[in-house]
Amino acid sequence: MDLFTQQWASYRAVVEHDLMEHQAVASATAATLEGWLQARPNDAAAPRMVDLGCGDLALLAPLLQRLPLGSYTGLDLTPEVLPLAQQALGNVAYPCRWLEGDLLRWASDPAGDDAEPVDILHSAFAIHHLSAEEKQWLLERLRTRIAPGGLFIWVDVFRKPGESRDIYVQRYQQRIASSWPQLSAQQREHVSSHLAAYDHPADRAAIEATAKAAGWQWRWAWNGRQHAEAMAVLTPA
Ligand SMILES: C[S@@+](CC[C@H](N)C(=O)[O-])C[C@H]1O[C@@H](n2cnc3c(N)ncnc32)[C@H](O)[C@@H]1O
Repeated sequence: MDLFTQQWASYRAVVEHDLMEHQAVASATAATLEGWLQARPNDAAAPRMVDLGCGDLALLAPLLQRLPLGSYTGLDLTPEVLPLAQQALGNVAYPCRWLEGDLLRWASDPAGDDAEPVDILHSAFAIHHLSAEEKQWLLERLRTRIAPGGLFIWVDVFRKPGESRDIYVQRYQQRIASSWPQLSAQQREHVSSHLAAYDHPADRAAIEATAKAAGWQWRWAWNGRQHAEAMAVLTPA
């Protein structure tokens, strides 16, 4: 098995056993998007959606299949996930685009269709790989890309206010070791070493202040039981 297949299999196992509460995230995302759609004027154009770090769409596809979108763009750094996402979504009534690329680059360098304002921005479990400076920069750039009345659904892991990255990593690794018996030892090791090497979750209080300074209104729409996973809904202030 190559590295991508091994690591993606570990992530799939986490999702299938609901160890990061993906089912609750999917329900909260559906409730937020369906509520937002109902509140739109009847004559509003069908919304354009861009998903930054779309992955394989294993969880989001059933929702996307029933949303009356004008278009959907799935963007991901890992090319292997895009055909999986396309297959999971299947045939839908709106045009879809699949882009291999870095979400920072997409935010900084709109071209063609991407220059149009976006009604729905979505990103789940991808932005925590960025540094604090990159997150700030991303929030500033995305604020210029959102359409008036649009929304940005940001699902991710976050640190408790004031919690250091080291303490966060320790507590998450303890959680994996003590309460993820559904994974094999090798899968637990994959997830544990990946998060120690690459995860830089934002401090909840600090990122809220950063987002407000960038011109967003911030609302915590869902909070996981472990004080890590959460969903924020950002709208233009
Ligand atoms: C943990 S997976 C989450 C996938 C999906 N959003 C979900 O919730 O199941 C993170 C995804 O983000 C992608 N990703 C990470 N950093 C990225 C970046 N800088 N630009 C675009 N995609 C990125 C990864 O390739 C991966 O597919």
